[in-house]
Amino acid sequence: MPTIYLDNAATTPLREEVLDAMTPFLGEDWGNPSSVHRRGVAAREAIDRTRAKVARAVGAQPARVIFTSGGTEANNLAMRGLSWRGAQRQGAIWIGPTEHASIRACAVALAEEGFSIEHGQLDPSGSLDLNDCEERLSSETVLVSQMLVSNEFGSIYPVDCLAGLARAKAPEAAVHADAIQALGKLHLSLSQLGVDSLSLSAHKIGGPQGIGALVLARDLPLRPLVFGGGQERGLRSGTENVAAIVGFGRAVELAVEEQGAALESMKVLRKQLVEGLQKIGEIECLEPGDEEMQQPGILSLVVPGAPAEVWLHHLDSRGVVVSVGSACQANKKEISPVLLAAGLTAGQARQVLRVSLSGQTTSDEISTTLGVLGELVKELASL
Ligand SMILES: Cc1ncc(COP(=O)(O)O)c(C=O)c1O
Repeated sequence: MPTIYLDNAATTPLREEVLDAMTPFLGEDWGNPSSVHRRGVAAREAIDRTRAKVARAVGAQPARVIFTSGGTEANNLAMRGLSWRGAQRQGAIWIGPTEHASIRACAVALAEEGFSIEHGQLDPSGSLDLNDCEERLSSETVLVSQMLVSNEFGSIYPVDCLAGLARAKAPEAAVHADAIQALGKLHLSLSQLGVDSLSLSAHKIGGPQGIGALVLARDLPLRPLVFGGGQERGLRSGTENVAAIVGFGRAVELAVEEQGAALESMKVLRKQLVEGLQKIGEIECLEPGDEEMQQPGILSLVVPGAPAEVWLHHLDSRGVVVSVGSACQANKKEISPVLLAAGLTAGQARQVLRVSLSGQTTSDEISTTLGVLGELVKELASL
């Protein structure tokens, strides 16, 4: 049975072009980039070429790209690395209302170490409540962390406005943005956003899993998480994953090149999906905020009757792959705090399915999915 893959916010298949770029570094080009002989130099040059590609995609200087083991590590590096100021382990950290677990859980750990944590709020339209931010930011704030695109709703948040507020109200604070669901979907520019750092991850854009980056806008006193041989300018020690880094670079290049076409295609397919769901009835689309502030590839749905997990398995058995809430929480039974922050009741949150498209998703796939959802409404709505 062919699979219709609509879980692209969780991960994406490795693109063939990316695999082709990586293959030499998994085979004959196996040098350690820290070695000074020719093999090492070739590996180092491959990493530096990628560093330039990633930097170009976000308007940064290549030297300020720090490769990490993925988005989670990049977010942790920003959270810990930018809030620790020398021996000082105090101050307030402000985090957005819908942050990924890699920010939220890190904030919990930092609270145990002495920091106080402020949580942002959504306004009734589903966007970031900037008045509330203004009240909560102060000269005590050492770090502000706000995602650019929600992995659960696809909402685009006004990070540039928040960064402006932070500069005025919290001049000591570093401003970090998780841009993991924005890469390849929005034009990214560190200076336009006004942030100090951005986190990126390769596997959301057809690159390999287990590689990402923290990109800095300027030289900041960033404390490393991992100490050792001093790779990545001493900010992330450990022999680099050369093949994955090269794959990341190729994926970024392709994602930026194809961004316009992918967005257009996803907008059309989202409309097809939403209109089809309206015809079926019973399934509610969670589309907070206005269309302009929506990454079109992510749509959360509240399904009727049986819990979302039951829907997921029925869809899976009929060849349609989606996820329940956030994939990073899929193995946990706890209700997503992000859905609760968005004003859903615990009961509604258990009914949320996330559908996420890519530039490769087709109209036929959406039609087939709508057909399957229509059948399931009849079978599951009254359970
Ligand atoms: C918004 C967001 N931040 C961070 C991450 C974590 O990235 P990674 O899977 O590369 O650790 C994800 C992945 O789901 C994400 O969607």
